Amino acid sequence: AAVEYGLEAPYSVEYHDAIDSTNARGRELAKAGDSDVVVLADEQTAGRGRLERAWNAPSGGVYMSFVLRPDVAPMEAPLLTLAAAVATTRALREAGVDAGIKWPNDVLLRTTGEKLVGILTEMEGEADRVSWVICGIGVNANVDPDTLPEGATSVREQVGDVDRRVFAQRVIEGFDSLQTDPDAILGAWRELAITLGRRVRVETRDGDVVGEAVDVESPGRLVVETEEGTARVHAGDCEHLRPV
Ligand code: BTN
Repeated sequence: AAVEYGLEAPYSVEYHDAIDSTNARGRELAKAGDSDVVVLADEQTAGRGRLERAWNAPSGGVYMSFVLRPDVAPMEAPLLTLAAAVATTRALREAGVDAGIKWPNDVLLRTTGEKLVGILTEMEGEADRVSWVICGIGVNANVDPDTLPEGATSVREQVGDVDRRVFAQRVIEGFDSLQTDPDAILGAWRELAITLGRRVRVETRDGDVVGEAVDVESPGRLVVETEEGTARVHAGDCEHLRPV
């Protein structure tokens, strides 16, 4: 319950010490008709990542899923992923961590490229309007670096432990203040991005796109200047993005 956890969020907060997956719980709530809920946990026993991967979620992290019923088409839902990345990156910077956003949905330590946060957005609905969206954010917060996979780091490793309650509150407020306003989200995203202005290789099911990442467009497409011209990659089509 929100009050128990001490959060004064614009959403009601359902808190768990440990749970299988906050996204899975969010789905249950969404299917039962709930909305404007944040499911928050300190530990997940079956955390889910993108591309059917498992997400390592030891105790001490901040694992949260927003359950929303925004008035948007499914096509526009990636904007919420960008908003989640913006809100989380801002909260990390406030905590003193030099974080930046890698398109489409990772938050990394800028200096080393190690991963601090993963975001998984799931949705269901009709072609013109979603019925619900679950936006799940996993932050390697007060987590020992040796419990993390290769290439990942934690807030604990970089600056020491954070107050997870304060951190979660900042993410929730930051996310809420962006709403689904594309200009606000994209403007903030560009400022915090690591990917823009770099040469990248984006791997998609239909082949690789190689060139300079120059911009992000609503609702979350990456614009890449390739030798053959301008390419636009949808967030959902990206399997990997690497600097080249
Ligand atoms: C990724 O980088 O592959 C995305 C990882 C998303 C992890 C978060 S943790 C909170 C929420 N619940 C889950 O089961 N997954 C997301």
